[in-house]
Amino acid sequence: MQVVIEGLALAAFQQIRDHAQNPLAAAVNAYVMQDESRHVAFGRLALRDFYPHLTQKERDEREEFLLEACYLMRDRFDAVEVWKTLGLDPARCAEHMYDSGFMEMFRSSLFTRIVPIVKDIGLWGDTIRNGYETMGIIGFAQTDVQALQDADDTIAKEHDARRDYVASVIQRAQKLETA
Ligand SMILES: [Fe+2]
Repeated sequence: MQVVIEGLALAAFQQIRDHAQNPLAAAVNAYVMQDESRHVAFGRLALRDFYPHLTQKERDEREEFLLEACYLMRDRFDAVEVWKTLGLDPARCAEHMYDSGFMEMFRSSLFTRIVPIVKDIGLWGDTIRNGYETMGIIGFAQTDVQALQDADDTIAKEHDARRDYVASVIQRAQKLETA
């Protein structure tokens, strides 16, 4: 659950960080991601040491839970309640949403964050591997998690560097005002 929810958070914030037209919205999400990315690193370290101590049965149960959670994550953003309230055909709208470029990008970003961590913490038995194969997301296991985390950190620092620039512009403007 830790891996899935932190991954979901990162994927959601990333959409705003990378695509927001508003610089402040992008910066705030870059900072949040810098922090979230550390949560993922923490979970990864803690769980990697934990799972080898469990029995096979206990690991199997967790794999089943995880796979179900991944299906739910994939399918839950259909906003059916919204379409119903607006009087639109929920099934058609959900289908349109699912196939939209935005949702494709979101799912890819989501599983880029989840799948390699699942492999890394050793929850990588038949249930998960076959399940991810069926879902078509097993390829994300090759993602370099450390590189992603480093990029989250670098992007946040770049935003921070621009904040200094903004502060200097404000300062100059204030000097002009008092001059
Ligand atoms: Fe978090």
